[in-house]
Amino acid sequence: MKFYCISFVLILNLYLVNASPIQIKNVPPYLSVLGSNFTRPILEPFASTQVDDNTDASHFIKKLKSENFLVYNHKFYDIIGRNPKIEVIASADYAFAHEGGAYIAKFNEVFFSSNRIDNNTKIQISKINLETNEVSFNITPKEPILFANGMYSYDGKVIICVQGQGNIGGSIVSLDPKTKKVTTIVDNFFGKFVQPGK
Ligand SMILES: *[C@@H]1O[C@H](CO)[C@@H](O)[C@H](O)[C@H]1NC(C)=O
Ligand SMILES: *[C@@H]1O[C@H](CO)[C@@H](O)[C@H](O)[C@H]1NC(C)=O
Repeated sequence: MKFYCISFVLILNLYLVNASPIQIKNVPPYLSVLGSNFTRPILEPFASTQVDDNTDASHFIKKLKSENFLVYNHKFYDIIGRNPKIEVIASADYAFAHEGGAYIAKFNEVFFSSNRIDNNTKIQISKINLETNEVSFNITPKEPILFANGMYSYDGKVIICVQGQGNIGGSIVSLDPKTKKVTTIVDNFFGKFVQPGK
């Protein structure tokens, strides 16, 4: 069974508060090959890519800096509609909404994980109810989840990439959104996992 652990920054994140006007762009196929002379600092977003010898691409990439949504597949419009907007629906004074983003349709809730908090010692799992926009901070799974990272929704469960810590390797677990029961799906691949969310 394959799980794709998608790590994406939730739109709850504070960074997007002052986002620019929204336009939607289809990403054109010519971006598949950027030529031999492109550079992108590894931790910078796609829009920071420098391309010297592909004018179409450099033109396009420059525009990305003012976009909030990129449409890679037309089916995305079924989710965001034709006129999406970004608004802050919850905030806190720490990086409570950093990764994850697993929508559980049955309860209309999105689960997500914080950045490392408390001096790098823990990561919280929280959820937001999309009916009320009420956040349940720091929900407590039945068994500890050591540094949750990316998440995915599958079969009504929250599938979580777990980073592990020290000698305890990473794993992929499922969390029952109601009972909070944790089930390990895989904790090694011929040995050990190192941060499966990455
Ligand atoms: C590649 O990039 C460098 C640095 O920006 C530039 O000096 C050089 O002319 C570029 N080469 C080509 C073939 O575009
Ligand atoms: C944070 O953790 C580091 C490394 O363990 C430690 O040296 C430092 O004293 C801690 N800082 C605080 C404010 O607890």
